[in-house]
Parts: sequence; C-alpha cells; structure tokens
Amino acid sequence: MFDKSTYIARRKRLKEQVGKGLILLLGNEDSPMNYRDNVFPFRQDSSFLYFFGLDKPGLIGVIDIDDDKEALYGRDLTMDEIVWMGPQPSFAEQAATVGITDTRRIDAFVHDLAGVKGIGKKIHYLPPYRPESILKLSGWLNMAPGAVKEHASVPLIKAIVAQRSIKTAEEIVQIEEAVNVTAEMHLAAIVGARDGMTEAQLAGGLQGIAIRGGGNLAFPTILTVNGQVLHNHYGPTVMKEGRLAICDSGAENAMHYAGDMTRTFPVGKKFSSLQREMYDIVLGSQQAAVDALKPGILFRDVHALACEKLVEGLKAAGVMKGDPKEAVAAGAHTAVFQCGLGHMMGLDVHDMEDLGEEYVGYTDTLKKSKEFGWKSLRLARELEPGFVVTIEPGLYFIPELMDQYRAEKKYLDFINYDKLDALRGFGGIRIEEDLLITSEGSRLLGKPLAKTASEIEALRS
Ligand code: GLY
Ligand code: MN
Ligand code: MN
Repeated sequence: MFDKSTYIARRKRLKEQVGKGLILLLGNEDSPMNYRDNVFPFRQDSSFLYFFGLDKPGLIGVIDIDDDKEALYGRDLTMDEIVWMGPQPSFAEQAATVGITDTRRIDAFVHDLAGVKGIGKKIHYLPPYRPESILKLSGWLNMAPGAVKEHASVPLIKAIVAQRSIKTAEEIVQIEEAVNVTAEMHLAAIVGARDGMTEAQLAGGLQGIAIRGGGNLAFPTILTVNGQVLHNHYGPTVMKEGRLAICDSGAENAMHYAGDMTRTFPVGKKFSSLQREMYDIVLGSQQAAVDALKPGILFRDVHALACEKLVEGLKAAGVMKGDPKEAVAAGAHTAVFQCGLGHMMGLDVHDMEDLGEEYVGYTDTLKKSKEFGWKSLRLARELEPGFVVTIEPGLYFIPELMDQYRAEKKYLDFINYDKLDALRGFGGIRIEEDLLITSEGSRLLGKPLAKTASEIEALRS
C-alpha cells in the first residue's frame, strides 16, 4: 500500500474534478467458484483500490463533494470469521491507513443512501461489471438491472480516466516490479519448453512464478502452439518440434499493478527459415512502433505504422503486394493482423477497460472505427508523458479468415493468395513489451528480455 497521503491527494483531486454530488465507489465482494465458501482469489475493484487502497471484500467508499466528507462503509470480523480466518486489524485501523477517519457500519449504507437520494443529490457511480454490483445498484437506485450501466456517471468516468492514465513515479516502481516478474515467467517458458510437453504443463509453472512474486496472474495465460487463435489459452495439446509457441502472460504484483508481455519461440532449438523470416517481420514492426512512441503522437498512427511495416515485410516475402500505406488504408493487413497494436496498462492489464474504451482510448472527437481490425484497437488517442502502454504487433495466419477473404475476392490488389495459402498451418507470432511514455519518447519497463530470433535461439539451446 502507498502512504495514506497518496490516497488523500487522489481523492482531493477527484473531488475537484467531479465538482458536485456524491461519489460512490463499490469495492468488490468475494466471488464463489462453485459454492459460497469456495471462492476465486479475491480481486479488489481497481478504482476502489486507487482511491481507497484497502484490498478487502465488502467495502464501499463514499465521497460527498458538497459536504466535503469522505467515509468508508465496512465492518469488523465476527468471532466466527476470526476462528476460521484469523484476526485482522479493526476496520477503523485499516481505514486510517488510507486517511479515512469516518468509518460506518455497512448495514447503515442503504439507509444513508436513501437520505442522500431524498434530498436529490446527484449520485455518481462507475459502470459495474460484476452481476452482484449491478443488482446492488439496481436495488439502491430503483432501476432495472439492465438500466444501471447506462446511468453510470460520465463526469466520474472522465475524472478517473484522467487521473489513472498518468502513472506517478511510485506507480511506475510497482508496474516495473510486475513487469520483472512477468519477464521471469517468460524466461521460464522459453527455456522450459520441450518437444512432447503439453501446453498446460508449461503454462502451469508460470502461475507459480507470479504467486511467488507476491501477487498472481494479471490475466489467464495464453500459451499455445496455435498462436493464430489470438486468445487461445492453453490445453492438453502436445507441443512438437517444428512448431512455434506463443506465450502471452503477465503477473500483477502485490499491489495489483500489471505486467503483460509476449514472446514467440520454437518448440525445437531453432526457428526454421520461414519462421525466422516471419518473426523478423513482426520484430521490425514492433521496433518501429516502439521507436515512434512520444508525447503528442496518436496511438492510432503508431498502429498504422506497425501495420505498414508488417505489410512491407510480407511484400518482400511475396505474400503481399502494392503500396503498404494503401494496403493498410484499404484494410488488407487485417488478413494477417486482426487486432490492435496495444492498450494502456496499470492496475488492470487492459487499464480501465471497465470504464469504457471510448473514454480510455478515444476522445469526444476521435471515435472508434467499426471496421474489422480497427474496431479492436483499444487505444487511439494522443499519448502523454506518464501513460503506460503495450506494443504487441503480430502475424496470425487464420485459415478460416484466409478462405473467407479469398472467396469474397477481397484485397486482390494487395494479397497474393497462393503465397498466403502456403502459411496455412503456420500458426501465429506476437511480440509484446510494456513502455512508459516520457517527455522525450518512451522507456522500456522492466529488465530487457531476449527478443531477437538469435537471442531466443541462444536461450533455446
Ligand atoms: N494479454 C492480452 C493482451 O495482450 O492484450
Ligand atoms: Mn499480452
Ligand atoms: Mn497486451
């Protein structure tokens, strides 16, 4: 946890930004896996964590801007809970560590909120993403569950996005810790892969490294020899020499800041010449995108640049043709790169995605495209110092998509379908790193990890 002055300053700024009314930040509850007492690992809501710091279930934070009051609702453990789970500092002691002196019993919340509603005060809340939060808000605010999300407070969303987008020095220390654990996971995957092992056997060990690092996985690990499926997790598939394995995984640290990296490596000791050719294309695209990062540039334009580099490389390989800029403008790159170049990262691996991509990655004037490929770009807006972003281009040879594009005679000016067909069964390649936008450009977060084909091969031997 940060010093309480951090949480006090964050709440003060939030109050100033939102201006009036009452801000309600719901902490998360424990979430049952298959019966009430068998729960998923507890994960606090990231905005609650950002402003109220406490990493425990069953809390509600309230900031009454008009009356200049802040309070936490919660409760002390019962003796039964102490018997089963051990003692804890009192609720008031915990609240004091984040600068809150006004603690109230959670049982009083509904009554207090009714009082606030009764005098017509504006209640600001965030779009809920868990069913129990939707049901609670629905009951408290007399709204159908389906209407809760659309009444979330846009001023609150915008204020929180403005604050959480710019990472402070103390947050960067945390993110870097998570990225270093993430790099350790990747190193273990790269050196640990063996012909005959299943994807799950390799992926299983990575979670141990994340937990040993003080936190847990930041998202379910993607580790597969079928990397053409963008979010293929892992399974009983046996990894065979000759295939490429993609590992996209990350740890969050004890304070829940995330890391998110991807490496692609041969299951054998060496890349084949075709695999190396394709790998170098992705590497060139990734490096060009990293080199382009600086304040003021639109991430949308960095995405377009990365796409152009992919097309340029595939043109040299005979798979694509024509002018790379025109190919990307027409959307031809989506035959091989169907997603976005990257996203913000912080307390969430896709930072603040619950608040809405239209606020996190776009602006009132820069709207998201509905086109295939472009619609998956989570971040498009101008970069600012303090943003943390991922850069993760890839090549994904998806037979079903190739067949559809070919049957529809799409992009005939830009794609040599016979050459593309030869990549059926190739799989996919992705390379991902985490970067901080600085006043001059960008800085790689975490200790550097093998990235070129030769560096990867050196680890494989
Ligand atoms: N880990 C999913 C992603 O890279 O966005
Ligand atoms: Mn990733
Ligand atoms: Mn990512």
